[in-house]
Amino acid sequence: MSRLEVIETFHGITFPGHLHTQESLQLALEFPFHDTDILIVSYPKSGTTWMQQLLTLILNRGDPFESQKVPNWVRAPWLEHHYSATLLDALRQPRIITTHLPHNLLAGALRGSNVKVIYVSRNPKDVAVSFYHFHKMANFLPNFSSFQEFLNAFLEGTVHFGSWFDHFKGWTTGQTGAMTNLLHVTYEEMSMDFEAAIVKVTSFLQRPLAEDEVNSCLRHCSFSSMKDNKMVNYTDIPPEIMDHSKGCFMRRGKVGDWRNMLTNEQNERFERDLKEKMQDCSLEFVWE
Ligand code: A3P
Repeated sequence: MSRLEVIETFHGITFPGHLHTQESLQLALEFPFHDTDILIVSYPKSGTTWMQQLLTLILNRGDPFESQKVPNWVRAPWLEHHYSATLLDALRQPRIITTHLPHNLLAGALRGSNVKVIYVSRNPKDVAVSFYHFHKMANFLPNFSSFQEFLNAFLEGTVHFGSWFDHFKGWTTGQTGAMTNLLHVTYEEMSMDFEAAIVKVTSFLQRPLAEDEVNSCLRHCSFSSMKDNKMVNYTDIPPEIMDHSKGCFMRRGKVGDWRNMLTNEQNERFERDLKEKMQDCSLEFVWE
């Protein structure tokens, strides 16, 4: 199934038809979670793969074997992707599951469960820049003629996977009030002090690691190690789907790369939108 040009619109949000069908999206909404599941939730380009790698290593007590032999989308499948049903069935407990779906769509399936949710977020300016570059190499995403055109769609929330603002607010503010099992981890805190991020995640999961196991996580989650690891860098995906002559999945891995892309005018527009759209959001952001 290639469906590179297909767009699925589901509950008002567009998704690439290469990865999603109406059926797979609907099945995600009705997914029978197990209490032992660990669910990574993120808007695309927020550090999803990085968290998948960390969780794989934590569950393996720092042993890198699985993270070097099994692709991330097999060991931590996306709940809503059409190929995931059999992969999810085959996972051993505790399962690592990934999703880009907004909270309002998954709230029903999560209600009453003890799934441990890890929400990964990133400065939306860096998300936008990373996502724009990803659109150039991923042939299952629409073409934008310029960054300006992409930025307009990103700020309007008409890009695939919907509005970043709605996604972030949905998973981090009052709507998740009933969910006690949710940990919010930012890309920026992982960049600033990855060891502290490991401790934060292992404490949440109640899976403390020994010093050498933490060191192994540090080593195998570094940007340089992941850039060279075919199980996370997507270089095994055929070029007609991801064209690596147009960019790398592990592109820069930096905080604040938006400064190399946004003009003053674009930054001012972004700030205006942030202020307006996040005014009902009481979280303090540390994005630099
Ligand atoms: P850039 O395009 O800014 O480099 P996702 O996995 O959610 O799609 O996010 C991809 C982004 O996370 C890319 O950002 C990628 O380089 C970055 N990333 C992945 N692994 C990383 C790591 N170990 N350290 C820093 N950044 C990482």
